[in-house]
Amino acid sequence: MNKEKEWWKKSVVYQVYPKSFCDSNGDGIGDLNGLTTKIPYLNKLGIDVIWLNPIYQSPQVDNGYDISDYREIDPALGTMEDFDRMLEEAHTYGIKIILDLVVNHTSDQHVWFQEAKKSKDNPYHDYYIWKDEVPNNWGSSFGGSTWEYVEEVGQYYLHLFAKGQPDLNWENPKVREEVYEILRFWLEKGIDGFRMDVITLISKDPAYPDGPVIQNKAYGSYYAGCANGPRVHEFLQEMNREVLSKYDIMTVGEAPHTSADEAVPYTAAARNELNMVFHFDHMHLDYNENGKYAKDRVKLTDLKKVMTEWQEKMQACNGWNSLYWSNHDQARAVTRFGNESPEYRVRSAKMLGTVLHMMQGTPYIFEGEELGMTNAFFDKIEDYRDIEALDIFRDFTERKGFTAKDTLELLRLKSRDNARTPMQWDASENAGFTEGTPWIAVNENYKEINAKACLEDPDSVFYYYQKLIRLRHEIPVITDGVYELLDAENEKVYTYLRKSEKETLMVIANFTEEEITYQADEMQDGGGRLLISNYEDAPETFHKQMTLKPYGAYVYYG
Ligand code: GLC
Ligand code: CA
Repeated sequence: MNKEKEWWKKSVVYQVYPKSFCDSNGDGIGDLNGLTTKIPYLNKLGIDVIWLNPIYQSPQVDNGYDISDYREIDPALGTMEDFDRMLEEAHTYGIKIILDLVVNHTSDQHVWFQEAKKSKDNPYHDYYIWKDEVPNNWGSSFGGSTWEYVEEVGQYYLHLFAKGQPDLNWENPKVREEVYEILRFWLEKGIDGFRMDVITLISKDPAYPDGPVIQNKAYGSYYAGCANGPRVHEFLQEMNREVLSKYDIMTVGEAPHTSADEAVPYTAAARNELNMVFHFDHMHLDYNENGKYAKDRVKLTDLKKVMTEWQEKMQACNGWNSLYWSNHDQARAVTRFGNESPEYRVRSAKMLGTVLHMMQGTPYIFEGEELGMTNAFFDKIEDYRDIEALDIFRDFTERKGFTAKDTLELLRLKSRDNARTPMQWDASENAGFTEGTPWIAVNENYKEINAKACLEDPDSVFYYYQKLIRLRHEIPVITDGVYELLDAENEKVYTYLRKSEKETLMVIANFTEEEITYQADEMQDGGGRLLISNYEDAPETFHKQMTLKPYGAYVYYG
């Protein structure tokens, strides 16, 4: 691949969760026409690419990750004409569009599955994974066993996620050809790439081994027989050869249960698989014996270790990183990694943005992150919509013996719904998201935290992100420079360099609310000029001895 084709290395991606972005027709659900009206806003922010969560026809058991027709738009989100108009509008602004490709599983309402479950000799039966007996102890992501019995055929089918999300059988070449046809359909429409949902799970170990029971769960972990399975690289190379390599696009694979070493074969350029993957190593640092639903905070030294490992290993293999603090499956970045209190919310949101956007890789901004949006503050289970939240509530209160109050506190910190509350556009009713009743409640703090307020305030998180994005476009060392961690053992300050032959960048970030006296020797006094800081009075040139303000972020360039 030549440099020009690697446009995604200089790009910043903005993730839109369509259901929660902007509702154009008052039914309370965000839609494509709503998104189209907001493209000028995204253009103002300066992003290059929009990643859309699934927009295809779906019974919405898992908010669109259960697809019943890959070639239709879900009626709640609009029509194919709306999609075409949205794509054209985005392209007019020079913004690219990537879609979510969900092909580890379909919906149980997909015609393939409807046929498959009719009889064992139905031509579609072998599109899915069937066993006469339950072969192992695997638990599905949203509760219960991964194996579901179907009377008509007297067999169990595999579903790693909800019952309504049966896993496709990638061993069947017909399934793979169907998937490639879906890819071609959308690529021929002119889209610019794909985010591939749980793509590391598509190849299953034919032994279907039991998994360890971890995190006090009721069942064993399916990762033992699914993550980075025996044929996954063969499948992706085939997909690349058959389809991806024929288009000028970007691809990012969601990679659960994948270490930096395991990510190498997916992203190393010479292997022709994917451009980059989303790893979860930094997302797991605040897990405890109950897994994700924990009150623990991430230790900065652990965070540095993980980020540094990925920076180094992706560079060494000529791969590429995806950089993110949050997405539709995670808590809000400022709540989880920063400080959402009124005093430090804006400051720490900018600090987090700085640390991420100066690294090597493609940064992903989750909708509302550019406003410093926070977790949802839901205080009753009825507020939640997500299948995962409802399952956790049941499991923790009924099986694990947690009180409802404690469980709600954990959901308040970690539920996926924290990211899915409507985008806060302005201070009018429902934050300007809808004129109807939103499908999930708007965060109460919308009168203070919203896009309109940000656009009117030159000091807002929005304009800071706008500058971060511009810097990435303008300064080559942010794309190419070698990453070097400094001060690894420091529990309060994250400092790193980015170095190329001619340029050096030093990033210093205070992760605490204390003022810190700090010494760094890697640049000469007066040697680097200030590129960006979240404090107006930050010294214009570098000084070896510095005072770092609470959540202060400073980038020097020389
Ligand atoms: C991915 C998606 C998540 C979904 C799951 C099953 O992790 O990001 O939202 O529930 O896959 O498709
Ligand atoms: Ca709507």
